[in-house]
Amino acid sequence: MSRDKVFVTRQLPPTALERLSAHCDFEVWQEFMPPPYEVIREKVGDQSGLICLLTDRIDGPLMDAGPGLKVISNMAVGFDNVDVAAANERGIPVGNTPGVLTETTADFAFALLMAVARRIPEATRYIADGKWRTWHPTVLAGQDIFGATLGIVGFGRIGQALARRAAGFNVRVLVDTLEPEAEVSAAGGEKVSLDELLRESDYVSLHVPMTDDTHHLIGKAELTAMKPTAILINTSRGGVIDPSALYEALRDGEILGAGLDVTEPEPIALDDPLLTLDNCLIVPHIASASVATRTKMAEMAVANLIAGLRGLPLPTCVNPEVQPGT
Ligand code: GLV
Repeated sequence: MSRDKVFVTRQLPPTALERLSAHCDFEVWQEFMPPPYEVIREKVGDQSGLICLLTDRIDGPLMDAGPGLKVISNMAVGFDNVDVAAANERGIPVGNTPGVLTETTADFAFALLMAVARRIPEATRYIADGKWRTWHPTVLAGQDIFGATLGIVGFGRIGQALARRAAGFNVRVLVDTLEPEAEVSAAGGEKVSLDELLRESDYVSLHVPMTDDTHHLIGKAELTAMKPTAILINTSRGGVIDPSALYEALRDGEILGAGLDVTEPEPIALDDPLLTLDNCLIVPHIASASVATRTKMAEMAVANLIAGLRGLPLPTCVNPEVQPGT
């Protein structure tokens, strides 16, 4: 019997590829940069499965180019790069990698929060610029974290993991979510409206998926509602914040600072005005980037793919309605 063929859009950790080799033939895109859309579309022509990343746009026309596609496995928890409605229409299950990156991403959101609050990137630049000549009472003084109020927008796994970290700093946690109030209280938070959260929080951290409803959820009005001493953290998707409004708010002191793991677009253009600001810390979408977690994500993507090739339910599927037996 001929083996299934699979296209993998980037080099994955070796343990994941070893597991894959036991189940199918596969081709791995070898370049550092993602394969162009047209290349993926051509590759899936004779493939049964696709392992892709959040940098790959997977839409209906691409799926149609692969009439034998049994499964699409996205190595990310977010799946806004995949047109899931189009996959549903074609009966193709789509896998993602939730859970394994929760703690690593929450660690990083808290790291960004602390770095901006205590002005760590500015402080390293201060030394590099030859400015450290003495200890001074007010130089590089930042904001306290202990005892502050943290607003968490979206209270899924990562938002809740952030709340657990906040508890260790005696931080009050306000939450804007559709989850029931009892669940928020059990996790140590207080369920409030977005408006109240923005007005009362010293730190606001975003943990919503990218959808039509969350596009530019944080714009001029929301930034204006925040305290002038507030710090905004985003480890979700860049499109959740309106970048022009954020630039103006940071420039004009409407909020104190921002820590962004994600931008709109990605990568951020080198002439983006946000990069000129001392109070905006931007890193290149690395919140889940620990060696252990990225390895687990790849292994999970492979597990989803193998299940899909075999016609079995994917361990983590974003469109379970098309799963076999449902
Ligand atoms: C990373 O952003 C992910 O969605 O896994």
